[in-house]
Formats: sequence, C-alpha cells, structure tokens
Amino acid sequence: MSFYIGIDIGTSSMKLLLMDNNGKIHNMLSKEYPLEFPRPGWSQQNPNDWKKALLEGVPELLKGFDASKVAGIGAGGQMHGLVVLDDHDNIIRPAILWNDGRTSKEVDYLNHVVGKKKLSQLTANIAFAGFTVPKILWMRENEPENFHKISKIMLPKDYINYVLTGVHSCDYSDASGMLMLDVRRKCWSKEMLEICGITESQMPKLFESYECIGTIDAKIAKKLKLPNTVKVCAGAGDNAAAAVGTGVVGLGGCNISIGTSGTVFITSDQFIEDESNGLHAFAHADGGWHLMGCMLSAASCNKWFMEDILNTSDYSAEQAAIDKGKLGDNHVFFLPYLMGERSPINDTNARGTFIGMTMDTTRADLVQAVLEGVAFAIRDSVEVARNNGIPINTSKICGGGAKSLLWKRIFANILNCELETPVSEQGPGMGGAMLAMVACKEYASVKECCKKLCHTASTVKPEPALVAKYESKYQLFKKIYPACKTLFAELK
Ligand code: XUL
Repeated sequence: MSFYIGIDIGTSSMKLLLMDNNGKIHNMLSKEYPLEFPRPGWSQQNPNDWKKALLEGVPELLKGFDASKVAGIGAGGQMHGLVVLDDHDNIIRPAILWNDGRTSKEVDYLNHVVGKKKLSQLTANIAFAGFTVPKILWMRENEPENFHKISKIMLPKDYINYVLTGVHSCDYSDASGMLMLDVRRKCWSKEMLEICGITESQMPKLFESYECIGTIDAKIAKKLKLPNTVKVCAGAGDNAAAAVGTGVVGLGGCNISIGTSGTVFITSDQFIEDESNGLHAFAHADGGWHLMGCMLSAASCNKWFMEDILNTSDYSAEQAAIDKGKLGDNHVFFLPYLMGERSPINDTNARGTFIGMTMDTTRADLVQAVLEGVAFAIRDSVEVARNNGIPINTSKICGGGAKSLLWKRIFANILNCELETPVSEQGPGMGGAMLAMVACKEYASVKECCKKLCHTASTVKPEPALVAKYESKYQLFKKIYPACKTLFAELK
C-alpha cells in the first residue's frame, strides 16, 4: 500500500488529506489563514501563509502514519490568483485573488479595445475581473516598480509546487484561467504575452495535471518528514481537481461545487467553447476540456449571513427553523453578489441585495432567501449551458454547501436536476491525491482512477410540484438584477 497527500489550497484555509492507493482517507486536517480585503471588492492573500500551512500541516497529517509509504503529492488550488516572485524568489506583493474586483478598467480595455472576438480567438475566453491577465495589467499601471521586478509569474498551487520542488510549473486547467493560454492548442499565446508586456521566460512550464513535475527537494522533504523520493504532480485548478475527486471526467459529466465560490463544471473530451462567452472554456485535468460558470460568493453568502449578520455558528438550527411548506413560496429574494459577480453577468459593481420584505417577514425567510438566491444564481449558469444544447439533468454536487440536505433539495428543485453526493466530499484534495496516483503510475489514466475510487453516496431528486413553484420564482429572480444594474454602478 502507498500513501498520497492531497492538498486543497482554498481561500480561507488549506485542507490536507492522506489517502491510500485504494481511495481510503486515513487522515485529514485544515489550516486557516487570513484573507485581506484592503478596499471594498479587493481580495488578497500572502503566499507565505500558504507555505506556513504546508510546513505545519504535512508533519501533523503524517503523525502516527508510516511516512516512508508516501509516494506522491498533488494539489488543487484556488484559481486565477496572481503570485509574482523576483530574481531572488522573494514574493513581490500579496497575491491578488480570484474574487478580487479591482480590475474593471483593465477588463474594459481587454474586452472593448483588444476586443472580445480577438481574446476569444487567442484564448477561447473573454476577460473577467478575477482572471490573471487583468491583474498583470493593473500591476503594470498601478505598481510599475513591482511590475519591473517580476521574474516569475505563477498561480497559488504552483507556488506550493515551487516550494516543494523548485520547478516553475503550471497545468493546463489552471493556466486556462489566466487568459494567456491558447486553450484549444494548449500553449501560451504569444500575442497575449505581448499585450501584458511579459516574456515566456517569466511564465511557468506547462504540464498535464497528472504529469510528474519533479521529485521533492531534499531540504523540504526533511522539514516535512517525508522521504526524498516523493513525486509531485502538476495538480490542477481547484474546480478541475474537484471534478476529478467526484469522478466527473470524460464526455458529458457535470459537477456543481458550492464552496466559497459556486461553480458548474461540464466536461468534454473535445475542445468546447461557449459562443456567448458566458461560460469559461478551459482545459480539464483528465487531458480533456470543460465549460465552467463561476459565481463569486456561494457558501460564503450563507457563512456571511450566519456568522457576520445573525451572529451564530449553528447553521443547522437556522435551517431547521425554515417552514418546509414555504419552499418555492418565499416572498423574499436575495441577490448573492457580495463580491460583485462573474458568471454569467460579469459585473464587478453588482452587490448583495434583499428584496421583497414585509412586516411579517421572519428571520427564517431571510435564511431561506440566501440559500435560494445562491441556487438561482447557479441556475443562471446552468441555463447558459442548456442554451448551448447541453442537457443538465444529473450532476454531482460537492463543497461545504453540499453538507446541507435542505440546501441540496433547494438546488435540485431550482435546477430541476438530480444531484448525486459522492462518498467523499473532499473534492479538490481528493482530486489532487488522485492526480498524484496517476503521476506515480498507480493508475493508467485519470479516468481509470476515477472509475476505481469515486462512488455516489446519495441522490436528491427534483420534486415536480416544487420544480413548478421554483420555476415561477426563478422567472421573478431573473428580473431583479437587470432592474438594479444601473443603480449598482451609481452606488459604487
Ligand atoms: C473559478 C474560480 C473559483 C476559485 C475558487 O474560476 O475563480 O472557483 O477557483 O477557489
């Protein structure tokens, strides 16, 4: 038996798991780190905090286990974050994260001066504020002294891989979200590099997610109490890693992840593009491609409402207070745009909004409205996929939000889609460990590994009467953002 370490570099914490080659999870832990919001809509993190979590987390994970059996490490990480190192490998500035909205000017330049058509031809995508290229342009304009110091550009999980191996690498799934990869041909776009004023030598070497980038550095191995034979795979963006962890690979699979962000992830074994560019067209970690819609605040809306507003950590008690007869019948609506929104509206000015309250509105109605608002916003992305002719009748669901049966019932009925919960909800961490298994030749392919290790624990089915009620509510929900759009811009 061999062990594999899976790492999920999340936005609020790093989650680590120790898994054997048969998919049994032997240990799990998480290490929290701070998230800075230096201005409204800005979001940054110090890569040193990820490194600290790694250095403390791995030895703790291995306590009581035979570390000599660890064969590989694989990471899934928050996507798009800009990590920049100087000539001496010093971190130049805090990483600008996927949910940072400071780049609206750069996004306008890219989409309207360079032009959506050209961006689409070069990268298969248009610009969104969270993507990496707008951040590079922002840095060039606002922090030229920092921009000129850049020796290496990388994404969050690539920084961890760099700490582990000294290899400056990136996989295709994560690289897709930079807006610099020619996603169809899987190579850096020379024109996009030129637009950013950077050279290929500053960019990481590209790998498939399941390829080995190198062996762990001997000094780091000693610190982590690991043998210096451990192999590190390229890993993946957290959504691609989560899809591997839930077994969503090959043609026509769907995974919905309800974490800090909320995503709808649709797989294809051929290159696939959304003509409307509402959904991202990215490479997948299995060697194929996928379409993805991403909302910026999903489970984080619920966390915000529970912890910051209601001052409670008892999520179950709040959900138990919801009158189940009121499902599909709530008079309150919530727009979940606490960090602006990405898919499909692409609006950094959008904000969270409750609408429809009356004197008899209860606390439970608001709790319900938050859960429903997130599900309605996920439906917006599902509808874009359906308009592309992709039927979404069944999906896997994972992430923190998938722990609530009530929320899954709301999702199943708002989306009119059967939702399968996998045995392990550890999407990105499990996917990371599985990619490492393929890199270490434990399995011949990602598909084969998924077939062996991924199983469904339970299914929530849509209920026709509730689907009909939620359908008319969704038609109302769809009208709220367009009615507020210009006001959001003024409120800014
Ligand atoms: C995907 C995205 C988010 C982050 C969350 O495009 O921005 O899902 O990857 O960690």
